[in-house]
Amino acid sequence: MHVHNYEKLWLGASLLLIVGFISTIVYGAAGAGITMVNDEGGQVNPKELGNTSGFDDPGVTKVGPNEYEVHIVALQFAFQPGTVELPANSTVTFYVTSRDVVHGFEVAGTNANTMVIPGEVSQITVEFDEPGEYGIVCHEYCGAGHHSMAAELIVREPSNFTMQDDTQTPTSGNETTNATATPTGGESA
Ligand code: CUA
Repeated sequence: MHVHNYEKLWLGASLLLIVGFISTIVYGAAGAGITMVNDEGGQVNPKELGNTSGFDDPGVTKVGPNEYEVHIVALQFAFQPGTVELPANSTVTFYVTSRDVVHGFEVAGTNANTMVIPGEVSQITVEFDEPGEYGIVCHEYCGAGHHSMAAELIVREPSNFTMQDDTQTPTSGNETTNATATPTGGESA
């Protein structure tokens, strides 16, 4: 059977396209480090956040040299706290949960991006090398005020940074106990 050269060319081109499409899907699913919200961050009772360690007083906690944890509560239609301040050259693990409906949590301009599901704690670790200001936005439609649900992240020069909450001294023993109680394995920055 004779196959025309043009026909061969189109066959080859369409095969190449199919391989290309499959490669982008495989990369998006496995290569880009995107995972579903899993049990890594643990589970909480969304009605009892006021009595849940970390979420009863959301905000920044220093857990080691240049290491911080940030607990954030998402609710219709805000994040608590509304402003997060951190020093540059730090490794930061966010623990985010919702007290009402499904929200989103994205630190605009970084790859920190997760769904926030009531009862689940979304855990993401991010490194901030440079000072800068980032918007935190909700990217899951969560009700009439969704478009206004935002917060602010300010990464300061380490010399300009002081912990916002005076009760949390940088090397407090309590905070270290908290940190070891939460699983911190398998981080992907
Ligand atoms: Cu919260 Cu949209």
